[in-house]
Amino acid sequence: MNATQPDEQSIRRRLQAVGQEHLLTFYPTLAPPQQRSLLAQIADLEIEALPALVETYVRNKPAFSLPANVQPAEYYPHDPASPRRPWDRDHFRAVGSRLLKEGRVAAFVVAGGQGSRLGYEGPKGCYAAGAVSGRPLFGMFADQLVAAGRKYGRPVPWYIMTSPLNHEATVRFFEENAYFGLDRANVMFFPQGVMPSLDMATGKVLLAAKGEVATNPDGHGGAIKALCVSGALADMKRRGVEHLSYFQVDNPTVKVVDPVFIGLHAAAPDSTGQMSSKMTPKAYPEEKVGVFCNVNGKTEVIEYSDLPMELQRQRLDDGSLRFIAGSIAIHIISTAFVEKLGTDPSFSLPYHRAEKKVPHVDLATGNLVSPQTSNGVKLEKFIFDALAMCDSAAGRGSIVYETDRIEEFAPIKNATGVDSPETSRELQTQRAARWIEKAGGRVPRGTDGKPQCVLEIKATTALEAEDLKGKPLPDIRPGESVLL
Ligand code: UD1
Repeated sequence: MNATQPDEQSIRRRLQAVGQEHLLTFYPTLAPPQQRSLLAQIADLEIEALPALVETYVRNKPAFSLPANVQPAEYYPHDPASPRRPWDRDHFRAVGSRLLKEGRVAAFVVAGGQGSRLGYEGPKGCYAAGAVSGRPLFGMFADQLVAAGRKYGRPVPWYIMTSPLNHEATVRFFEENAYFGLDRANVMFFPQGVMPSLDMATGKVLLAAKGEVATNPDGHGGAIKALCVSGALADMKRRGVEHLSYFQVDNPTVKVVDPVFIGLHAAAPDSTGQMSSKMTPKAYPEEKVGVFCNVNGKTEVIEYSDLPMELQRQRLDDGSLRFIAGSIAIHIISTAFVEKLGTDPSFSLPYHRAEKKVPHVDLATGNLVSPQTSNGVKLEKFIFDALAMCDSAAGRGSIVYETDRIEEFAPIKNATGVDSPETSRELQTQRAARWIEKAGGRVPRGTDGKPQCVLEIKATTALEAEDLKGKPLPDIRPGESVLL
């Protein structure tokens, strides 16, 4: 038997050795193609690693221990004239623009997540996010890349990480939409890896169907390995790409490529050029975002659930939060760093445990169960744990750059309330209103200062506020929806 045709006996023996032989409970009842498929799925799991994972993450919950000397991370302020750290925005913009013109930058979106909180069936990138246009998230990112291609005089390649659970649907969506005007030769899809979903009470791998193992994508941290094994990294090297502009699929206002951020990452005197991050000031102490901290000279993200509330509430003399740098999951990662980590046999990011409702087959009855409360443990890796693996010496390390929430963070995560389609629409409108007013236009605003209209500016009209200058601006009346 070769690796693509695992035989039942050897799989059974390996499963028995780790107490997971229940995965073959229904094997005798399956048709031969399903039998082969099940064996292949099991062979793809790292079976021998399961007992240690179950012991660490299911029978126990790893306790987070706060490092002794957690400090707030330093950052480049949004205002380059800020006395706390003045810097030369024009210089770094020029560096980033040059890298874009030279084709050394690619866009990289992680779109392998399951998007269960939004309650949307299908890949989240297909979600209609445009405040006025209803354009899907993928389409909005593509528009930016079309505009960036024009602005910098060459196409920006785009890598899209899917998961085995949404890969086909994602590619089909691009096909159906003619790649949103992009040259398909510059759009690459690759699936991330998966982890088996584990029963919370017993640590047994769950079955999604009689012939199918229940799995979940292995977290956006799985990107490092997936970039290496999928051939994406090799493709980047062939194209001369040196920096990846990393973003999440849920944020329609993200700057898909930002010359200033790219320039800072590549050329700031205190940057190793390995992995850099954007932050927005936390809106309030309890806001559920990871926080950039400095731990023994290294930049790290500490999740809101791990950073003690007393630290999150600390304020400086000027009243601002001491731990203010909220992670909005936007990074620049160099391909050399990805390669260094991905080819190091001792490299691994830690797993994080999440308790979820995992539909599964009842082993006794063979019926499908849809649990009402969490029954499963999913294990995921987080990309920001790679920050601690950046070099830090001679005053250099992983840098953080402050951006403005209205300019760049309008995520759609929940169906209602915080970070929902509604709040995203409001933020998109606020940004467009700002840009229009900056360009000399007028926007009707209420007494609370909020725009009394819904606005959206296509990326092909303007990538940033300055691009609107000199363009015809509409006369906007209260209550109107306007797409520019
Ligand atoms: C994330 C960050 C949080 C940050 C916030 C900003 C984590 C754990 N937390 O929260 O610190 O403040 O975004 O918006 O990331 N994804 C994959 N594969 C996976 C899992 C996720 O590609 O296996 C992608 C999703 O498609 C999505 C992104 O990662 O684009 C975020 O995933 P999600 O789990 O929703 O993170 P958040 O809880 O939103």
